[in-house]
Amino acid sequence: MQRRSNEWKKHCFVGVTLVLASILMFSASIQAQDSSRPWMNPKLSAGERADLVLKQMTLDEKLALLHGNGMPHVPNWQMPLTALGNGGAGYVEGVPRLGIPPLVISDAAYGVRSGGDNGRYATALPSNLAAASSWNAELACEYGALIGQELRNQGFNMTLGGGTNLTRDPRNGRTFEYAGEDPLLAGTVVGNLMKCEQDQHVVGDLKHFALNDQETGRNIVNVIISKKAMQESDLLAFHIAAGIANPGAVMCSYNRLNGNFACENSYLLTDVLKHDWKFPGFVLSDWGGTHSTVEAITAGLDQEQPMADYFGPKLKQAVEAGKVPMSAIDNSARRVLYAEFASGIIDHLIRPGVPDVERGLETAQKVEEQAIVLLKNQDSVLPIAASVHSVAVIGGHADVGMISGGGSAQVDPPGGNAIMPPGQGATHWQDHIWFPTSPLKALRAQLPNAQIEFASGKNEGEAAALAKRSDVAIVFAYQWEAEGLDLPNLSLPDGQDALIEKVAAANPRTIVVLETGTAVTMPWADKVKGIVEAWYSGSSGNKALANVLTGIVNPSAKLAMTFPKSEADLPHPKISPLSREDEGQGTGALNGETHVASKYSVTYDEGAKVGYKWYEAQHKPVLFPFGFGLSYTSYAYSDLKVGDNKQDRNVTFRLKNTGDRPGTEIAQVYVTLPNEAGESYQRLAGWQRVELKPGEEKTVSIAIDSRLLEIFQEESNSWKQLPGIYKVVVGSSSADAALAGEFKTD
Ligand code: BGC
Repeated sequence: MQRRSNEWKKHCFVGVTLVLASILMFSASIQAQDSSRPWMNPKLSAGERADLVLKQMTLDEKLALLHGNGMPHVPNWQMPLTALGNGGAGYVEGVPRLGIPPLVISDAAYGVRSGGDNGRYATALPSNLAAASSWNAELACEYGALIGQELRNQGFNMTLGGGTNLTRDPRNGRTFEYAGEDPLLAGTVVGNLMKCEQDQHVVGDLKHFALNDQETGRNIVNVIISKKAMQESDLLAFHIAAGIANPGAVMCSYNRLNGNFACENSYLLTDVLKHDWKFPGFVLSDWGGTHSTVEAITAGLDQEQPMADYFGPKLKQAVEAGKVPMSAIDNSARRVLYAEFASGIIDHLIRPGVPDVERGLETAQKVEEQAIVLLKNQDSVLPIAASVHSVAVIGGHADVGMISGGGSAQVDPPGGNAIMPPGQGATHWQDHIWFPTSPLKALRAQLPNAQIEFASGKNEGEAAALAKRSDVAIVFAYQWEAEGLDLPNLSLPDGQDALIEKVAAANPRTIVVLETGTAVTMPWADKVKGIVEAWYSGSSGNKALANVLTGIVNPSAKLAMTFPKSEADLPHPKISPLSREDEGQGTGALNGETHVASKYSVTYDEGAKVGYKWYEAQHKPVLFPFGFGLSYTSYAYSDLKVGDNKQDRNVTFRLKNTGDRPGTEIAQVYVTLPNEAGESYQRLAGWQRVELKPGEEKTVSIAIDSRLLEIFQEESNSWKQLPGIYKVVVGSSSADAALAGEFKTD
């Protein structure tokens, strides 16, 4: 696993000061020389402006745009300009004489990373997977906009958020950073998030392109998959996201793909991304993911990060020796400039400011309230009535906080890790970090008349005794995951399954609240009355959760990934382990060493059948299906009509709230392609969030996304809709065919 030391702290003060000084320098120089700089005219297009300024640049100035200058807190990645990185992930020099500012880059998956160690505040939003569970594009936009603003407040102008990899294996340690297992849902959520983040004048980014779907051996693994399968799954998610967001940048991933490293893979970077998708921005390597000079730039890599091992002096030599044409340098530099003009970072220079903490907390709460998935609610054990006398809160450090996801996505909690003594809360790569968001306190605030007691769960007997003497028992269960390592399995760690069993045996009204980054197995599912998935819940997770548990908020979220019954049902029941030889090769990438070919590979023979498509095709029953989530009210679907407009196919139906509470139902449309398409399985093709008052009924119309009706044909490198019968189902999850219909094309 990649580890990062905290050595960097001492560089930060110097870094921040230097960044501020360089920003002021840029502002002054822009104002002084604007009239002589036609590229500063905001009325011109980003492309025209990039062309104009490129003409003025020397080779060295162009080359400076094509590599990073170190990562502040990683000793191996120190360079003279590292300190200018503002404590973020990377720094790319600008061209001061022409008014082009530097790129000051930060990780920002569910919030701006590394705020705490700099003494800076950042809101932690619920995990990206949680946001995807809202199926709400507008909410994803708010999520992105907030991160964009906080990046700017902290002095950054480029984000490394935008995780779009599909959840092909739920044990992937970064599942919480991604938006689930479906290309349409993931592409729509990440696309909207990144669009609105970039609108705040930060260069947007989608990552990790592509098929970096497991962390085990991520620096060396050769992913083997057909072009058709990748086009119809992971690449489709990226294409949809890129179409919505128009990101300035795309980060190529660590892994190899069908033989070549993603960052020197011409199929991925040039044929698909730049040619077929007409992506106008730049490709940057994942950190340490560049392995060559000529091969990489020829294949379509534009910027090496975070160092200049291959795209520094070696690239200049290659140009001078005629191995890389000037046109390639111009093309890459123009792409960086294009992204900078298009995102507005040149017209809106960084002006660090104070983040609106209140607004951040409100947004985080709002997202979480729409992200919490009610998985089980037998005998209406939830919501907990205000008249309840006693509640047992057990486990999961619920007295002090709620857990978050680690790695480069980690957002630092204000005041440090809630489960550590004050002053010892600095976050390290491998720490399990709890935010100081105590569900115990939030529940006490919502249920002032109830006696609410806490047991840590360390002593099962004590926990069971407390459960026994309480009206309701709530067990808080966690599962930590982070970048750099996959989960060994989907079980809850630290004996929590046994604790839940004990509590459930002591109190028939037991509810389990899950704080997880991915699916977990639940051997106790039949023995508890309620199951609530709260994910990594962010800076206001406890308040949102208390609102859902007490019924102030009616849950509406739906799973963005399947919860399987067991690892045996996954396409790959085991993630093949690395040999010692493989591991040795893996460390090289992070130290700037050249990689030798490794034999470590994974064949994704499930192809495009990711997630629910796999379980259905294999007839494997699951614990909770993709798209599933309960409400405190109920809904009825009727009167399906499948439109016959070929160009603009849509479905209409009636949806009624048949219960006694207002609610929001996420109605989903799935289409199965004709048999002629080869393997056919249902694909999510549209959805709508429908708000309904008790008893209210609405006609709902959902457009079928035509991209989901097509198959990719390798021979012609094109998409085609085949003639035949298309089956359509509409319902409340991928497993609920409440309404069924079809249409025919010829
Ligand atoms: C991760 C990226 C991250 C980068 C910079 C890499 O290890 O894979 O997602 O953006 O580091 O921190």
